[in-house]
Amino acid sequence: MAHCAQAAFFVVATWPVWAYPSFSKPVKILVTGGAGFIGSHTVVELAAAGYTPVIVDNFQNSERSVLQGLERIMGRPVICYEADCADTSELEHILQREGNIAGVIHFAADKAVGESVQHPLKYYRNNIGSTVAVLEAMQAHDVHNFVFSSSCTVYGEPEQLPVTEQSPVQPAASPYGNTKQVCEEIIRDVVGSGARLKALSLRYFNPIGAHPSAEIGELPLGVPANLVPFITQTAAGIRQQLSVFGHDYPTADGTCIRDYIHVVDLAQAHVRALEVLAGQPAEHSYDFVNIGTGAGASVLQVINTFEQATGVKVNYRLTDRRPGDVVQIYASVEKSKRLLGWQTQLSLEQALVDAWRWQQRLQGR
Ligand code: UD1
Repeated sequence: MAHCAQAAFFVVATWPVWAYPSFSKPVKILVTGGAGFIGSHTVVELAAAGYTPVIVDNFQNSERSVLQGLERIMGRPVICYEADCADTSELEHILQREGNIAGVIHFAADKAVGESVQHPLKYYRNNIGSTVAVLEAMQAHDVHNFVFSSSCTVYGEPEQLPVTEQSPVQPAASPYGNTKQVCEEIIRDVVGSGARLKALSLRYFNPIGAHPSAEIGELPLGVPANLVPFITQTAAGIRQQLSVFGHDYPTADGTCIRDYIHVVDLAQAHVRALEVLAGQPAEHSYDFVNIGTGAGASVLQVINTFEQATGVKVNYRLTDRRPGDVVQIYASVEKSKRLLGWQTQLSLEQALVDAWRWQQRLQGR
């Protein structure tokens, strides 16, 4: 049965490693925050692609039961260390213990925009501290491939749509957004210093959905801040009513537009990112790329699509705008196609059906 090693020195289990052309064997990838929403789905896709994911998570924002879900999907034990990713020495112990880590995907971070306004130091300590610690540990152990979990929030309210990577980074609207910007700058500076590091920041748009098996998905703590978990919880009767924040925006139906990407597609982008880094001859490189579908959907479109795809009604009402929301943003996907040879495969309908299946699974627990 899956459990997570409490001390960073202890490994739970291991399994055979397959070769992957771009990396030398064995191909272990450290996944910080690997028990979280995007991290757990990426662990599945890494394993499916033949890698051995090694999770580091402190379970501050995730549940240990995720490990069992992962094992059921993957059909094999999960390697997991319970550790704080802001602690360089703990990370170093893990890298030492595992040996031959070929790359790191760094998810571990707090991500609630509102909370970050209330508790900025928590965000600066956790998000920036963990990025610094991970990079330090990588340097100490000669690990050179780094994929960073960034966000389209760096663009603020974009002047042109779809938003390309050339669009200027805008002053951050929240401490959370600022941590993503600062971490991107830290990575760029480390590469600029001549350190042996190949790094790619993936600027995600709005990740939604769940694994189609409904073994893993999003686990919002308390009242969800994000749209899709609020929709599924309202449809399930956990929440009485969904508030649609703003209906007088300059969009076709007056509600905000976002680029909602299925978390499985997003997870696969991370695998591609690693492969691209591994195949790069340069010893020092840094780049950033949008990870979205290229299409925008309004809040009302998401609700309607959910209702049509699942046959379940969502009780909602139109309310005031939420402070800080951008009006509309969706990705230009040209660079991700070119750089990663990747594009999304799954539809908004599929993502909402999978999110609903996951919600129903949670109800049954
Ligand atoms: C936010 C962050 C993003 C972060 C993401 C995941 C910003 C600008 N964006 O995205 O960086 O990665 O959360 O944590 O900081 N909505 C409702 N009712 C609700 C909830 C949401 O109408 O109950 C609307 C919002 O007003 C918005 C859309 O749904 O128009 C999406 O909101 P949300 O899911 O919170 O994501 P973002 O704010 O786009």
